Amino acid sequence: MWRVSTLLNEPTGTTGTQTGFVEPAPSALLLLGQGRDLASERGVECTGALPAPSDPDLVERARAARAALGDRAFVLGHHYQRDEVIDFADVTGDSFKLAREAAARPEAEFVIFCGVHFMAESADILTSDAQQVVLPDLAAGCSMADMAEIGQVEEAWAVLQDAGIADEVVPVTYMNSSAAIKAFTGRHGGTVCTSSNAQVALRWAFDRVGGVDGNGKVLFMPDQHLGRNTAVRQLGMSLDDCVVFDPRKPMGGLTTQQLRDARMILWRGHCSVHGRFSERNVADVRAAVPGVTVMVHPECKNEVVSAADLVGSTEFIIKALDAAEPGSSWAIGTELNLVRRLAKAHPDKQVHYLDSTVCFCSTMNRIDLPHLVWAMESLVAGRVVNRIVVDADDAHWARVALDQMLALPGI
Ligand code: 13P
Ligand code: SF4
Repeated sequence: MWRVSTLLNEPTGTTGTQTGFVEPAPSALLLLGQGRDLASERGVECTGALPAPSDPDLVERARAARAALGDRAFVLGHHYQRDEVIDFADVTGDSFKLAREAAARPEAEFVIFCGVHFMAESADILTSDAQQVVLPDLAAGCSMADMAEIGQVEEAWAVLQDAGIADEVVPVTYMNSSAAIKAFTGRHGGTVCTSSNAQVALRWAFDRVGGVDGNGKVLFMPDQHLGRNTAVRQLGMSLDDCVVFDPRKPMGGLTTQQLRDARMILWRGHCSVHGRFSERNVADVRAAVPGVTVMVHPECKNEVVSAADLVGSTEFIIKALDAAEPGSSWAIGTELNLVRRLAKAHPDKQVHYLDSTVCFCSTMNRIDLPHLVWAMESLVAGRVVNRIVVDADDAHWARVALDQMLALPGI
């Protein structure tokens, strides 16, 4: 039977099973990074040393290595990480909170980043040269960040210059982008943003070119959905104020007039996980679960966030569930590791997954306990593995853009 959503927990004191308890079936994605195909692990030189996932002593080994590292190491865990990894995180958070936390630990010799590559790059930029940032699996990238390459961004800027509008454009890049693109943003007077501060960042950017009601523009990279959702829902712009710049087409697939008329020039990028949620998912869960509150991440499509009740970053989603009434019903549209954890943490509430199909972020899932153990044991043995280092010039300019974000008012 096809289910409209997946109920991930069974609220205490209820017997209702409108959609039935379904623990998502083990997915092929879960096998990634667990040492079964070491040759396929791009850039990871851990053949032979990566513990087997079946090692019964894995948790004990992780505890021992963590204890041996003590204050020399600080472990950051993004909310989308697996439970087995989150158990060893000194702090968990969304990408904004983790950037702040990384910057606030000058005493830690090693920052072990359990997240994806762009987050570890940002941590390297925000920490001192004496600190070393380690990403336990170098294949933990982000498909959205990979949708914008620095060469394409430079070509896009040249298009804006040729159209005679570059002086009225402020670049804003989502945290989910390479250090090179953050550096580009810093060099051109822009800022970085995350899903928890996109509104403030966009207001700041528009204020530099005549305000939200003026004629200035923002080039928003690489997530078209976060850019559009923020502009339309929070800044009062219309969908017609937004154009999509496709880096694979001449002039981004736009005319000079379209570029001149636009207020938001959105890079053609998206998240492959959040892009799966649909308006139909929202309608179906509302029909199946009376009174349900639908809450989604702003990386979802505009029609999905418009149909939802609440929209926010991972940290926002966690706080909203914490504050919810016992007995209330929720359908959440974000990565599955987080939603499953929320369902477990809130047995007094009904927590549904908005899509009935499994929706892990495969790259976040690459960081697993074997890789974490391997990274920590290597550090204990005096070997720094999978260090993330951003080149000095990019680091300088990316830091300008990141510092600008950290200095934005009210966050
Ligand atoms: P947050 O900023 O909400 O942590 O989101 C990061 C991310 O990658 C979402 O897909
Ligand atoms: Fe990137 Fe999407 Fe995964 Fe977030 S959930 S890390 S945006 S692919």
